[in-house]
Amino acid sequence: MDKLCCYVLLLLSFLCFHLDLSWSLNTGCNQAVNSGGSPDPDKLEYHMGPVLASPLKLYIIWYGNWNQTHQDTIRDFLSSFSSPAPRPSVADWWSTVRLYTDQTGSNVTDSITLSGELGSTGTAIPCRFKYPKRFRHGYATGTAECNIAGEFFDTKLSHGPRLNRMSIQAVIKNAVTSQPKPLPLDPRNGYYLVLTSADIMVDEFCRAVCAFHYFTFPATVGVIVPYAWVGYSGTQCPGMCAYPFAWPMGVPPPPGGNGGSTVMRPPNGDIGVDGMISVIAHELAESATNPLVNAWYAGNNPTAPGEIADLCLGVYGSGGGGAYVGQVSTDAAGNGYNLNGIKGRRFMVQWVWDLVKKRCFGPNAKD
Ligand SMILES: *[C@@H]1O[C@H](CO)[C@@H](O)[C@H](O)[C@H]1NC(C)=O
Ligand SMILES: *[C@@H]1O[C@H](CO)[C@@H](O)[C@H](O)[C@H]1NC(C)=O
Repeated sequence: MDKLCCYVLLLLSFLCFHLDLSWSLNTGCNQAVNSGGSPDPDKLEYHMGPVLASPLKLYIIWYGNWNQTHQDTIRDFLSSFSSPAPRPSVADWWSTVRLYTDQTGSNVTDSITLSGELGSTGTAIPCRFKYPKRFRHGYATGTAECNIAGEFFDTKLSHGPRLNRMSIQAVIKNAVTSQPKPLPLDPRNGYYLVLTSADIMVDEFCRAVCAFHYFTFPATVGVIVPYAWVGYSGTQCPGMCAYPFAWPMGVPPPPGGNGGSTVMRPPNGDIGVDGMISVIAHELAESATNPLVNAWYAGNNPTAPGEIADLCLGVYGSGGGGAYVGQVSTDAAGNGYNLNGIKGRRFMVQWVWDLVKKRCFGPNAKD
């Protein structure tokens, strides 16, 4: 249930062990991490629950004051799941997640569409994007394509500047009930992504978690729908949640980690948002294969399961593991990436466990 609990700790425990650094963090962390190792992939089992096999409609709830440039990067990433792009693409990456089936034999869906975002003022803002797209090398001309039905901007902070697990569900409830134009409450296909901005605190954010996925309670939201929360870590804790573009304070950068001893530069110009992209992908992959926390996971404890992305924390390319991200690409400006997306975008996304190959895998693998 708690996703991505201290994935940096996993790397740190490696570092502490190998480099004998003293490191302490107050964590309420995942047992798998506390017990000093990653979850055991050999224990990955199917527990009879459903996977997300129906076409997924993503609804984004932007909570807080979001930077439009950052939103644009995230939208383009989410729009890349079901769109063609040069190999290795985001859609290619998702094909590893598709290998997982449920007891009806249905695979995880290949249809993921960004279906709506609405403003918390209740105002539908269907296609307001006429802003210049800013890339690393300056401003591109033209306007962003509009492929989003509407947006929910919870800029008035319906549940204040500090959220916890239950209030995140209340934020979803607010988004699906705010008049006059709520987000659709769609138990069949809906997937709700609550994204909190730099100025929002979330309990345990930056201490034990960077994000989590779960499902809503009927008592709070009315139905059971899968959702994830991911926080923007760029100002609060890039060293914890924006790996490999940032590294925890006091810990030396990874030796030889793609570019010598320097920390990798982000492909879309912002450490926080480029780090968040991989975290969003992590949560989506795990929701798809373990949406109700009773399908695919390793270990005996469903409240701290080792899910398909947990098993590959910190691995982004061949040879990756420990403090080495693996073989990834760099663009002309030296920014790291391993996947291509729409509109010429590039992203850096961790690998997930491949059920058939029985190892961590991504489409940029060399073998
Ligand atoms: C569905 O899952 C099975 C079992 O892992 C796999 O063999 C098959 O290739 C998957 N289908 C798709 C379209 O990914
Ligand atoms: C939005 O983010 C970009 C890229 O990180 C940054 O250059 C810009 O200053 C930010 N804009 C605001 C209004 O904070």
